[in-house]
Amino acid sequence: MSKESPTPTPPEQATDRLFATERKPEDFRFDASVARVFPDMIRRSVPGYTTIIPMIEVITEQYAQPGSNCYDLGCSLGASTLAMRHGIGDKDCQLFGVDNSAAMIERCEHYIALDDSSLPVTLRCEDILDTELSDASVTTLNFTLQFVPPEQRAELLARIASATRPGGVLILSEKIRFESEQEQEVQTRLHHEFKRANGYSDLEISQKRSAIEQVLIPETLAAHRERLLSAGFDQVLLWYQCFNFVSMLAIKAD
Ligand SMILES: C[S@@+](CC[C@H](N)C(=O)[O-])C[C@H]1O[C@@H](n2cnc3c(N)ncnc32)[C@H](O)[C@@H]1O
Repeated sequence: MSKESPTPTPPEQATDRLFATERKPEDFRFDASVARVFPDMIRRSVPGYTTIIPMIEVITEQYAQPGSNCYDLGCSLGASTLAMRHGIGDKDCQLFGVDNSAAMIERCEHYIALDDSSLPVTLRCEDILDTELSDASVTTLNFTLQFVPPEQRAELLARIASATRPGGVLILSEKIRFESEQEQEVQTRLHHEFKRANGYSDLEISQKRSAIEQVLIPETLAAHRERLLSAGFDQVLLWYQCFNFVSMLAIKAD
């Protein structure tokens, strides 16, 4: 990490109170109200997020190859995109951030403009299932694959693997579930304790859970590993875990 240009923290920190009062049940969506509070929401909801973002910079610094493409798929407001941007440094890569939420992309443009790196970032408001991928060295799916319908995940990962250069990587962060019901219960309870410790009430935790459970489908670590290997990656490492949140590194051999 360069000392002169640390990954910037988003300047806007509106507090997430979206689920603080009784609301009628409806599925969670990445709309304008979520985009407005997103930095606060993800920091207080995802254990390890504030560690994973700077580590994406470290990993990108290691694996970005000069002249290659780098993709942040499901970039939201660009926290992971900016980490990649700083990790790329002066390696002359093309960096793409992709998200299908117009509200996210609109705000992301603002954060990219405030950042002090001069590396151009191309933002695309489109479905990552339609994104053209080629000549990639680093691709990031930071808590995005979990929102893609399970039956479409294998094809997306196979496209990423086939677009990845030898020696390139996919950084894949996900909420996971566990084979053992007992472990599932303990890890879920610890996650909820993390949210309580960050100021969320029981009502907020339960309403958010109901809203998100139809759209965020977690899978086991074993299922992720097997699918990444079948997709064409040669090695899968677990480099981070906190409760039911993990980050993996899928590597294509040199
Ligand atoms: C949890 S957020 C990602 C957080 C972000 N990567 C970060 O590190 O801050 C998931 C994002 O994926 C986007 N998303 C979900 N499914 C998508 C799809 N099929 N195509 C494009 N974007 C998608 C959502 O709009 C949302 O902004």
